[in-house]
Amino acid sequence: MENIETLRGRDFLTLGDFSPSEIMGILGEALRIKALQKRRIPHPYLSGRTLAMIFEKSSTRTRVSFEVGMLQLGGQAIFLSSQDMQLGRGESISDTAKVLSGYVDGIMIRTFAHETIQELAEAADIPVINGLTDLHHPAQVMADLLTILETKGRLQGLKMAYIGDGNNMANSLVEGAALTGMTISAACPDGYGPAPEVVAAAGDAVSLVDDPREAVRNADVVVTDVWASMGQEEEQQMRMKAFASYQVNDALVSAAASDYMFLHCLPAHRGEEVSASVIDGPHSFVFPEAENRLHAQKAILKLLL
Ligand code: CP
Ligand code: NVA
Repeated sequence: MENIETLRGRDFLTLGDFSPSEIMGILGEALRIKALQKRRIPHPYLSGRTLAMIFEKSSTRTRVSFEVGMLQLGGQAIFLSSQDMQLGRGESISDTAKVLSGYVDGIMIRTFAHETIQELAEAADIPVINGLTDLHHPAQVMADLLTILETKGRLQGLKMAYIGDGNNMANSLVEGAALTGMTISAACPDGYGPAPEVVAAAGDAVSLVDDPREAVRNADVVVTDVWASMGQEEEQQMRMKAFASYQVNDALVSAAASDYMFLHCLPAHRGEEVSASVIDGPHSFVFPEAENRLHAQKAILKLLL
């Protein structure tokens, strides 16, 4: 069922680029590497390798987990803020890709338009990893899948509910659910749904519903994300109004399965997309989820680089 032989040298731009067996292969490798790390057994699979990390947006988890992950794998990471690079003064993304290909073994980038990472990947001779674009956040969703798998012992047949903005997280969750045999029911305000092409590709695995309560009914996993993503700061007030009835709170999760898990990629805004009672409550797995960024990404790095 698992396949990891086909991953070497590939880019990691969206989950939809991979087969179900490749996704399960990465998750299996992540569990194995996590067990080594927990037992403090060295696993220097990437000794002497270097990852360049380009950030055009802020980050806590992505930066630290990729950097620490490379160190634990015996390699190193270089943090590059686009503001300090010639990229920030107008050097082209493709020239940047070709130059970095001569120095490092892989590039992780967090950027705005998804087309930017596609252009980078096309010009680079080395694997390019998506650390978030406006359209996808696949590394985060690998950590989410890992957290669900560890907690529930399976993915196949589980129901996920996604409430709120049909953003980068929603798109990658739809792809991740469809690839792993889960179903996902998404409740988003009119005009704020997931990308139509992502929904179309997911087929029967996804259902779009109007009522958050219907989405959450009997869900094994309930997920939300911020109402205004990075780059949408000026829309914050307008979005607060549009999303007002989409908060994940005690009343809403009372419709979920009795052993439901709550996930949020963080950073979270308590009192907006989620109540403190839910995110800080007994069903919340947000901190194991954040830790699993490290383990899932080490598997991705090992298998691609
Ligand atoms: N979840 C996530 O990607 O967090 P950062 O923005 O802190 O990297
Ligand atoms: N949707 C959020 C995720 C942050 C990790 C954003 O893009 O800002």
